[in-house]
Amino acid sequence: MTSNDSQHPRRSIVLIGFRGSGKSVVGRELVKLTGGELIDTDELIAQQAGKSIVELFDREGERAFRRREEGAVRRAAMQSPSVISVGGGAVLSRRNVELLRSIGYLVWLTAPAEVLWQRINSDPSSDNARPPLTNLSGVEEVQQLLTQRTPHYAGTAHLTVDTTSGTPSEMAAEIVMKLDALTGDD
Ligand code: S3P
Repeated sequence: MTSNDSQHPRRSIVLIGFRGSGKSVVGRELVKLTGGELIDTDELIAQQAGKSIVELFDREGERAFRRREEGAVRRAAMQSPSVISVGGGAVLSRRNVELLRSIGYLVWLTAPAEVLWQRINSDPSSDNARPPLTNLSGVEEVQQLLTQRTPHYAGTAHLTVDTTSGTPSEMAAEIVMKLDALTGDD
């Protein structure tokens, strides 16, 4: 699973998981180990629209955002093998899941709801990128959506990494080690 790995066909690594699970920070460390580019579908969406995700939700609603997200996933999947970080709701689309599984290994980053909420709440980028998704607030929204989405994450992932403790670089190393075991690399 290294950048000069020639024994196995190269595949992308796709980071899935709830908001605050560490997809962006772990993704940044992962590309240092694997080579390739870090592609963030939320960034693709915002760049293409020329608007923040919060603005898109306000103006167009969540359904339109999900269509844009499918487009961004398609564009990300067309790149050469990379690390792809997808928004927390991307796995709700069967189309996204089928496409992503056809080009990559899906790695589910997990943490308890309280930890996720604390990270979301203290991340300044949440203001532009994380609109409310329910009428609930704070940790209650996280708990409810996590309950709904856990079967999607679990049913989709090739492997799972708990990000509750440890540094992003330790988590990236764990992903590479587990993927090597999965794919039979040394
Ligand atoms: C969403 C997660 C966000 C972003 C949008 C919707 C979700 O991405 O796609 O706010 O439905 O959980 P992150 O998981 O990167 O925060």
